[in-house]
Amino acid sequence: MAIDRVDDYLDSHRGDFEEQLKALLRIPSVSAQPAHDADTRRAAEFLFEDLRSMGLDAELIPTKGHPIVYAESLRAPGKPTLLIYGHYDVQPPEPLEPWTSPPFEPTVRDGNLYARGATDDKGQMFTHIKAAEAWLETAGSLPLNVKFLIEGEEEVGGANLEEFVGSHREKLACDYAVISDTSQFGPGMPAITYGLKGIAYYEIIVRGARTDLHSGTFGGAVANPCNALATILASLKGPDGRIRIPHFYDDVRPLEDWERAEFAKLPFSEDEFRGALGVASLEGEAGYTTLERKWARPTCDVNGLFGGYQGPGPKTVLPGTAGAKLSFRLVPDQEPKEVARQFRAHVEAVCPPGVTHEIIDHQGSPAVLVSVDSPGVHAAARAVEAGFGRAPVFIREGGSIPVVGLFKTRLGVDTLLLGWGQNDDNLHGPNEKFSLADFHRGIKASAHLFDELAR
Ligand code: BES
Ligand code: MN
Ligand code: MN
Repeated sequence: MAIDRVDDYLDSHRGDFEEQLKALLRIPSVSAQPAHDADTRRAAEFLFEDLRSMGLDAELIPTKGHPIVYAESLRAPGKPTLLIYGHYDVQPPEPLEPWTSPPFEPTVRDGNLYARGATDDKGQMFTHIKAAEAWLETAGSLPLNVKFLIEGEEEVGGANLEEFVGSHREKLACDYAVISDTSQFGPGMPAITYGLKGIAYYEIIVRGARTDLHSGTFGGAVANPCNALATILASLKGPDGRIRIPHFYDDVRPLEDWERAEFAKLPFSEDEFRGALGVASLEGEAGYTTLERKWARPTCDVNGLFGGYQGPGPKTVLPGTAGAKLSFRLVPDQEPKEVARQFRAHVEAVCPPGVTHEIIDHQGSPAVLVSVDSPGVHAAARAVEAGFGRAPVFIREGGSIPVVGLFKTRLGVDTLLLGWGQNDDNLHGPNEKFSLADFHRGIKASAHLFDELAR
């Protein structure tokens, strides 16, 4: 059978696939840093060239920012069409000091490949490209129609992909979409993710006196923006872990009973989780388990704080400005625009006198829930089992992949979220890694997905 020859090809090309992934990981395609614009473009060209040389109709599509790589093979009349999304841009590697090997010098240790982008998302995305290669090299064609859409602005929340999807609905029309940019439940426990959180991200700047002042001569007489900011931030959450913005929970869809029951069945030790993170206790919204909080309840986190003196030793100063970056992770059916209105009204109400504030809205995207019971999901479950030797469990995740919502609203399709990563892959942090065993299992699962969906 064709799939057996595909499997043989995968077995005999493991070394090649690893070397090619390493070559891609050596390109520092950090989308957020303008100094890496040429490198980011090089990563796009690398993928374009790989897809083109496999015999796909490939395009390098310019945008106002980083280019989109698009490639298709539509030579299976009567067969379904699968849209495969991935991103070739990576998070900044800084701080560099904690990296054991440099972020853009991919290095294998203990069966793991360490590099920025190894799991998020170059390694995971690459599995689908190599699966297509195996089909093309052995069968001469793909068993179904395939469209690759690989962007370079996922990590900067770029608006260019949204614009592209909206204006190319015909080109991207498909029966199924698949994304590998999430994690398994644990080692040896592959998962299909059916829910992702949305996000609403803000920057708040608090301003007091027109300049920094001596904190002795002026303290007590004028408002301190750092103190005022602390008051505002402290008002966002109560001791019960609940967000105190009026009406914030109005649109929150409660967890279903079946989900709570399924989550509770998963082998998850709160104590091991706590110990691995090095925290004294687990904290969050009262009345929910850790998995429920992580996957299905909205959260609010400060991502960064600035203001006042940050250098060594003491400096007595009453700062003129202070600021914070903060984000809410959203769940169905919260709308980022509505959350923005609620957040602004709340800050207006609690901001202490004597300072002014400004809120910058870094835009957001809503949460998504996809079907757990459809022919596509059943095919995907069989493919995951073929690749990983074990049927997947169904999970939600706390991260966000904005394009999933776009595929639903603009193309009318649910996305199969087939994550090959592990929870300790350190995505966005130092020493990001991807298990090479999971890399090869992911390629096999993808190759079988093509086969299963084509039936
Ligand atoms: N691959 C992640 C999303 C993710 C991570 C999903 C872990 C599930 C588990 C993606 O590249 C990412 O980092 N997304 C951002 C989105 C933001 C920039 C709009 C996120 O979740 O912070
Ligand atoms: Mn990603
Ligand atoms: Mn990411």
